[in-house]
Amino acid sequence: MSRIWKAVSLAIVVMMFTFIAAGCADGSSNEVNVGIVLPTKDEPRWVQDEQRFKDAIAKTDYTSEILFSQGSSAKEKENVETLISKGIDVLIITPQDGDAAASAVEAAKKEGITVISYDRLITNTDAVDYYVTFDSLAVGAAQAQYLVDNSQGSDVPLYLYAGAASDNNAFLFFEGAWKVLQPKIADGTFKIANSSEAESLKDKAELSRDELSKIIGQVTTNWDANESKNKAQTHLTAVSDDLKGDVAILAPNDGTARSIADVFATDSAVTSFLVTGQDAEKASVQYIIDNKQSMTVFKDVRTLVEDAMGMAIQVLDGKTPETTGSYDNGNTEVKAKQTDVIVVDKENVKSELIESEYYEAGDFTGLE
Ligand code: BGC
Repeated sequence: MSRIWKAVSLAIVVMMFTFIAAGCADGSSNEVNVGIVLPTKDEPRWVQDEQRFKDAIAKTDYTSEILFSQGSSAKEKENVETLISKGIDVLIITPQDGDAAASAVEAAKKEGITVISYDRLITNTDAVDYYVTFDSLAVGAAQAQYLVDNSQGSDVPLYLYAGAASDNNAFLFFEGAWKVLQPKIADGTFKIANSSEAESLKDKAELSRDELSKIIGQVTTNWDANESKNKAQTHLTAVSDDLKGDVAILAPNDGTARSIADVFATDSAVTSFLVTGQDAEKASVQYIIDNKQSMTVFKDVRTLVEDAMGMAIQVLDGKTPETTGSYDNGNTEVKAKQTDVIVVDKENVKSELIESEYYEAGDFTGLE
């Protein structure tokens, strides 16, 4: 009896070894071609990208794996190492923190992996091969232009908010917005309500990175809903009623816009507010339909994903990807492919987001 069991166990062990060896030998069973690292699952924006990447890779003969860094640069580095160990040839990565991600991509570069910075630029390293992005200066400019076009009268109180200082995009968004807002602050259309740093720079049309840092440091939301809410509450508590009434709010993206809008909506001295956004997140599209958020900047993630995957496939096929320009990342000029953005408000929400099949009408209520 025990001899039979021994023989059976031996046979099982031999079978297992053969199976594992076969899997390793041809590499096909667990090898990943394209590694994708995204910043966080806590914002719908990046969950959208995940789904669009899955749809895109399903149409190719290649394999991919998507990992999330959950707001941590340490986790991001670990994710990159995991993907390197799985044999990736291309890494598509949205850094949690543009500077901190340098060491992760340098590790990938050492292994001969092609690095594509996705939506956010990885800064101060030469280990980034390509950058796939939306026109981020245009995002900020569009938000600001919306406030200019839809504000009435003069001395309109202007509340400024920005993204995380660790994200290069936060600088581009704010820089783009400032170019449009500054002349309108100078001519008395707007008066800054919540930033002494912006107030002290209000006569300067062009701001240096250091000057932008000072303002962003003061009005950052850190891309965080709670921080946005707390800041908005603090600002409204600090100001007198002449900085309330009909106000304009530059909010950097949809998540922060909803938090800030909810706070402004509860202040009875605020009679109306314009508030910007970005990403066309479903919750914000509903806010726009319900008149709780004024606009969003629609960044069609399908195009960005197609561009990034297109580049990755060209690299895997041994070709050189096409680019349309370049971005200075503080160390080197990174070849870039850039996509335009679309302003969406209540007027065109249906044509831009439903008729383009980005979302389904059934995702929303009250859509006319
Ligand atoms: C992206 C935005 C996003 C923000 C917060 C930025 O880098 O471009 O689309 O809303 O990060 O995650």
